[in-house]
Amino acid sequence: MKSRVLIIEDEERMRHLLTLVLSEEGYEVQAAEDGVKGMLLWRDMEPHAVLTDLKMARADGMEVLDFRNRRYQNVPLIILTAFGTIQSAVTAMKQGAYDYLTKPIDNMEVVRVVARAIADTRKEVGVSRGVQGEAKMVGSSQVMHKLYEDIKLIGSTKMSVLITGESGTGKELIAQSIHAHSPRAAKPFIRVNCAAIPHDLLESELFGHVRGAFTGAVGNREGAFVEADKGTIFLDEIGDLPLDLQPKILHAVEDKLVSPVGSSKSRLVDVKIIAATNRNLDQMVHNRQFRSDLYHRLNMYPLRVPPLRQRGADLDELVDYFVALFCREQNKPPLVLADGVLQLLQSYHWPGNVRELKNVLERVVLVCRHGEITEDLLPEKIRSEYIVPQSRSNDYLDLSSQERNLILAALEQSGWNQSKAARKLGITRNTLRYRMKKYAINRTM
Ligand SMILES: Nc1ncnc2c1ncn2[C@@H]1O[C@H](COP(=O)(O)OP(=O)(O)OP(=O)(O)O)[C@@H](O)[C@H]1O
Ligand SMILES: [Mg+2]
Repeated sequence: MKSRVLIIEDEERMRHLLTLVLSEEGYEVQAAEDGVKGMLLWRDMEPHAVLTDLKMARADGMEVLDFRNRRYQNVPLIILTAFGTIQSAVTAMKQGAYDYLTKPIDNMEVVRVVARAIADTRKEVGVSRGVQGEAKMVGSSQVMHKLYEDIKLIGSTKMSVLITGESGTGKELIAQSIHAHSPRAAKPFIRVNCAAIPHDLLESELFGHVRGAFTGAVGNREGAFVEADKGTIFLDEIGDLPLDLQPKILHAVEDKLVSPVGSSKSRLVDVKIIAATNRNLDQMVHNRQFRSDLYHRLNMYPLRVPPLRQRGADLDELVDYFVALFCREQNKPPLVLADGVLQLLQSYHWPGNVRELKNVLERVVLVCRHGEITEDLLPEKIRSEYIVPQSRSNDYLDLSSQERNLILAALEQSGWNQSKAARKLGITRNTLRYRMKKYAINRTM
């Protein structure tokens, strides 16, 4: 059987050249002229390797990469990039691209890289969609304990779940954990990121399509609901689901009936539905941006994950866990924290939550050259937020950090409207401004 290669490239000459070079090598090649067509073709031809340009009008290379990361993690993706934009290719590689080729293309190199990509991928075993590795959740705060109980409970029921919380709080990890703790654990876990898939593609991604349903639909295709049959479908970023698709989702959630685009036949599926969002769906319902019937249907069992700054006890455990994890990953001996470092981490407000903490610690472990993690290795934003000199008493520390947290909470609750926040706090707007400056609070945090 010939290996199949998909080329996604908007420049016609380049597309033809690559098709020619790779066909001559014995590959079965298909090409698309933009990202959207490329993703459609991807699902129909199921290529063994994909080459994509980065800059394209409809869905660029990064969107294609995201599509691959969600659905086809075992297919190597090679980035085509012009000289001078190598930086973006490097970014793409960090996010999972296999390699990159610079234009003008060297024919021999293309052949070599594609062959290596396909051979390497064949060697890997077990890479597939689904829950990757053991989804380990760290934290023993009361909130987390309650979450663990909920996770077990939900797994055993048929209820749909809505997980809400700020970005980086662990919503996806929780969804994976629910699946892993359910009787469905051995069946598929399919994640659909409603925010990342171009609108044109989303309906067919979810429900599939029949041949000829639209230009580019060259074959019948099963959607995520059917793929997740007997397992779990995770509708991530559900707040970004376009209004016009919401009735169809409601039908799927309520009656477990789905019909592919272009067909009037429905099919019954047995899926557990977990949805997540960092947007305020209540508010969206109020503004008629989200259907209230769908909201209530999904929200049968709401799970709210609090931000990291409200889970002090978890932070210490997470720090230990991530430092040890990255030491192992980077082949370093175990590192300890110098005096004061943990306090700095505790007093920072972590707008990006656990993800931000994880990223910070990965970098810190990387740049740490001695056996101890010292203050100077922490990012400036964390060091500069610490406003209390170390010599002061603990009482003082608590008072200021509490004041800071209060101000932040008031600002967040009032959508960063300073007048409203000041009213909530019972202080004048000027005082609020002064305090915000003192505690280096600003909206970009
Ligand atoms: N309690 C936890 N224990 C260990 N790792 C965690 C925990 N919570 C989150 N993480 C890690 O933090 C990162 C972010 O988590 P996740 O992707 O689940 O967040 P999210 O809420 O879905 O964020 P977003 O809204 O931005 O999509 C992941 O790498 C995840 O493994
Ligand atoms: Mg997420």
